[in-house]
Amino acid sequence: MSTAEFWDGKFTADREAASDGSPSFFGGEPNPTIAQHVEVIRKGFSDPSRALDLGCGRGRHTVWLASQGWDVTGMDFSSVGLEHTGAALAAEGLSANLVQQDLTDWQPEAGSFELVVAAFIHLPRRDRENLWRAVAEALTPGGYFVSVSHHPDNEVHGPGDPELLYSADEVTDFFVHEPQSLEAVVAQRDVVKQIDGKNVVDTVVVLRKTCAES
Ligand SMILES: C[S@@+](CC[C@H](N)C(=O)[O-])C[C@H]1O[C@@H](n2cnc3c(N)ncnc32)[C@H](O)[C@@H]1O
Repeated sequence: MSTAEFWDGKFTADREAASDGSPSFFGGEPNPTIAQHVEVIRKGFSDPSRALDLGCGRGRHTVWLASQGWDVTGMDFSSVGLEHTGAALAAEGLSANLVQQDLTDWQPEAGSFELVVAAFIHLPRRDRENLWRAVAEALTPGGYFVSVSHHPDNEVHGPGDPELLYSADEVTDFFVHEPQSLEAVVAQRDVVKQIDGKNVVDTVVVLRKTCAES
């Protein structure tokens, strides 16, 4: 089974569970850390500014960003996730550009987004470094990258393969050696909460693309 099929299956099961009243694994609300940082970033941009939700899944951030006035693109390789996102947007009377794309071979147009959001995207090291490079290319000068993912110390949910997990230092160290620099505004290990005595630990990164020297 490919990774895209894995996610299609997960979202199909999630949709079926939700239709019989069972709790949905992926909630409809945005991640609070992402919402908190994006609300601050939003104040620095005029309408309409362009936001990209990488690996949008069922679209909880795509919908929220659209509701906040961003001109949003939701991107994922899961057709079921994108269908779900489309339905969630329609239910709120909102719209977004939805793109089916594998993030491991995404080649963005340079300077096409003021904001890129990535929530719980866990790729092998080489793929995530290529993705970070692509994000740097996609951002306008002064644009922001907001990323929240499971930290290697996380003890609840998330991928079992440690190769898919990374710290905030790994992200900031990566950009030190890149020609398209993103400077760290926030880079931290965040213990979000405890569930049954186990820590939920996130990697939180907010980076800003350096403005070109005048
Ligand atoms: C844990 S879910 C997070 C979904 C959403 N960002 C959220 O926070 O609700 C991971 C998402 O990344 C997508 N994804 C994983 N690998 C991908 C890839 N190589 N290309 C495109 N999407 C990918 C999956 O389809 C899934 O929707």
